[in-house]
Amino acid sequence: MAYYSEDLIEEVISQNDIVEVISEYVQLKKSGRNHMGLCPFHREKTPSFCVSMDKQIYKCFGCSEGGNVISFVMKLENLDFWDSVELLAQRAHIELSRFEVRSSHNSVQAQKTEDLKEVLFKINREVGLYYHNNLMDILNSTGYHEVKEYIKKRKFDMGTIKKFGIGYANGKIPLYNYLLEKGFSKSDMLASGIIMENAKGKIYDRFFSRLMFPIFDIRDRTIAFGGRVLDNSLPKYVNSPENEIYFKGKNLYAMNLAKKEKLDNIIIVEGYMDAIALQKSGFGNAVASLGTALTENQARLIKKYTDNVIIGYDQDGAGQEATMRGLDILAAKKLNVKVLILDKPDAKDPDEYINKYGPERLKNCIQNSISLVEFKVKKLENMLDLNNIDSKIKFLTGVADIMAKIENDIERDLYIDKIARKYDIGSGPIIKEVEKRLQKMSKEDIVIDMQSINRKMQLVTNIRKRQEQYIVALILCKDKKIQDEIFEKIKAEDINDDNVRKIYLLLIDLKSKFDINKIDILSKVKEEDMIKELTEIMYIDLSMSDRNKLFQDVIKNKNKEKLFLRRDEILKRISSNITKDEKEILELELNQIIVELSKLK
Ligand code: UTP
Ligand code: MN
Repeated sequence: MAYYSEDLIEEVISQNDIVEVISEYVQLKKSGRNHMGLCPFHREKTPSFCVSMDKQIYKCFGCSEGGNVISFVMKLENLDFWDSVELLAQRAHIELSRFEVRSSHNSVQAQKTEDLKEVLFKINREVGLYYHNNLMDILNSTGYHEVKEYIKKRKFDMGTIKKFGIGYANGKIPLYNYLLEKGFSKSDMLASGIIMENAKGKIYDRFFSRLMFPIFDIRDRTIAFGGRVLDNSLPKYVNSPENEIYFKGKNLYAMNLAKKEKLDNIIIVEGYMDAIALQKSGFGNAVASLGTALTENQARLIKKYTDNVIIGYDQDGAGQEATMRGLDILAAKKLNVKVLILDKPDAKDPDEYINKYGPERLKNCIQNSISLVEFKVKKLENMLDLNNIDSKIKFLTGVADIMAKIENDIERDLYIDKIARKYDIGSGPIIKEVEKRLQKMSKEDIVIDMQSINRKMQLVTNIRKRQEQYIVALILCKDKKIQDEIFEKIKAEDINDDNVRKIYLLLIDLKSKFDINKIDILSKVKEEDMIKELTEIMYIDLSMSDRNKLFQDVIKNKNKEKLFLRRDEILKRISSNITKDEKEILELELNQIIVELSKLK
């Protein structure tokens, strides 16, 4: 990839009207000076997503997402900063080469990696096409071929083969020569992992006699391959190794397709075959984690598109263990997770289920997916034999443990009721056991007290933060006199909130280089938290307020805050073991502080 000068950022922002760009993704309605729509970053029924034509920024008042046109594209397309800039530049037909700089602030090494990545994408693309064309040729030829039989057996139709770029590696023409002819170097081929070299220097293909599945990233670039044998030999799948463009845990198979759907939820399955079977049966929201344990990165990737996930892992022991771990990882990212239970024991995974029982029946299972709590109860049930009294007691105890951990009272009651009916145990005994646990938990009251303290602290922090946001908002009003006074009186370290302080520091820095009233400050920010913060501040409307008075108030409050802090320090010091002299001096200072504070009231 090329490197661009920072000027490109401003050019991109000025050439891409935010209302136009966002309208391509979200239906917007004009409302006063703003445009409103349904927020694409969280589920809602009434619009709280607001785009400001004047300020060229957006903000959701529901989920507090916000930013400029670049951050919008970053979020929605899940691209990094410079990729988003590039995309928007293309959209506005900006001549990118005008802004290209040759790795001025990037090391030669970084440039080399970027170049290598570019080549690896190209190699994968070529190889993917090669495998695919190879398969198509076989399918279009007459006569027997084992891959033809296999395709029939797995019920792949032409549309699916094309959509997923499925191919066949027969290994008849070594890819090495083929790629050499296309102009690729040996070292790049080796880096792709598709070509390998043994200790004796012999070159060979990684994949042969395998059905090939290209793995795409969310920008539809081929980053790796998985190849399946056509019989029962092992290993069942061979995959590309990780390299500069392929990180297993960062990617989800078929996410490039799923993201194009209107996503109510995402179904995450284990294998290539499952994702493909689901997608071809109309479940366009299916993706696969490809047999590895679900990672935090994958959870984050999902979260960009939806808050609701259904785990549809294999029904065997290993799959259920993976489900349990996956549940925790997804729940930690505040995703609503459900578990798909296949209601037929002779179908191990969604692919088998669809082939045996059809998509309609699977749809039923999907609709009946169970929650985290129900899954835990089910696991407990599977471990025990409920016909035996001892086990039944263990089950009851286990259920009570699970129920006691549910924070919401209503939710807990509903579950108890449901489980009592399902297992025919009467809700009385469960409730009794749960109450015992709840009482014990409330005795461990420190936790609860901490909660209320935290809430109070949060309130104080919020009020203080608002004051600090006003400082930046006032600077953004472009009143030179107020700006000078703020910069003189308020030091960055006076600001407690990390993000606001970072923005304030940035403003100080920008002021030393530019006339800050003439530049687009938001375009100078690249960190996600800072963009959010700055957008929030930009939405503070000071046009109706008396800015001078607000400014005086903010300064006054900052002073007060400092005095309070000093007062607390002194009080603490006085009550410790200090000399009489020091105590006297401190008491004098304390008196002064009290007088000053009373003046500030
Ligand atoms: P499965 O064994 O469940 O495969 O492994 P599958 O996708 O259902 O394939 P079929 O139906 O048997 O043909 C799940 C995933 O684990 C990875 C693959 O990504 C596979 O899709 N895996 C499995 C490997 O990488 N290597 C293996 O040898 C086996
Ligand atoms: Mn399978």
